[in-house]
Amino acid sequence: MKLRGEPIVFVTAYDAPSARHAARAGVDCILVGDSAAMTMLGHDSTLPVTVAEMVMLTQAVRRGAPDTFVIADLPFGSYQLSSEQAVATAITFVKEGGADAVKLERGGTTLPRVAAIVAEGIAVVGHVGLTPQSAIALGGYTAQGRTAERAHDVIADASALEAAGCFAVVLEAIPAAVSSRITNMLRVPTIGIGAGVGCDGQVLVWHDLLGLSEGRVPRFVKRYADLSREIDAALATYVADVRQRAFPGTEHEYSMPADEIERLTRVGG
Ligand code: KIV
Repeated sequence: MKLRGEPIVFVTAYDAPSARHAARAGVDCILVGDSAAMTMLGHDSTLPVTVAEMVMLTQAVRRGAPDTFVIADLPFGSYQLSSEQAVATAITFVKEGGADAVKLERGGTTLPRVAAIVAEGIAVVGHVGLTPQSAIALGGYTAQGRTAERAHDVIADASALEAAGCFAVVLEAIPAAVSSRITNMLRVPTIGIGAGVGCDGQVLVWHDLLGLSEGRVPRFVKRYADLSREIDAALATYVADVRQRAFPGTEHEYSMPADEIERLTRVGG
């Protein structure tokens, strides 16, 4: 698709129904992001989510979208310790989770982990720029690579991830001028989130895209729906209906033949 100049569409998803919707919409890839820690599990960062939790979500996505390319994020702490740990975690996601590929964050010490996983025949996506697993060290959830020196670091990380064997690299929250350079430089596709239109593809987080996130969303998010408002309105109506005995209606009830009701009365029901 990169060679053909066709934009590549990624979206995150974390459960079977969402994966079904994503597949029906024709996305190219579903990312089971560790953003699930925040969007699904209510944590305030991506750090606490475990391998077991992520594998369960990946399995659900796989069941919902059996024919879509599924990438699973390796959670914080599940690949940093050693290349052996990284390979073992990646195998778990492929074997138990049903993932087609895995994603790791950062350059630096992540590079040998990528190489080790790729050497075992598992496809890997890299992730540079704002890498949420190291957000505290990066100074918070802020755009990266905004000086020439920092941009150079991000470019070098992306290039090193390609050299280590990544088949795609996510570019998060970096200036469009930097992501365009990286996109032109790499042979593998770049997938942007807050990285401008010059990337080979785009990814958005499910809850941000559909208006399900609570509170402030990053400036790079475009909301395509306001599902949170719709859900609130639907639930408020349901609560009111039940309280007023307006639900269930007769159309929601099961009937019973009149003679059976009569028999029931006779047998003392
Ligand atoms: O965890 C995630 O959802 C991600 C995307 C923001 C790329 O890594």
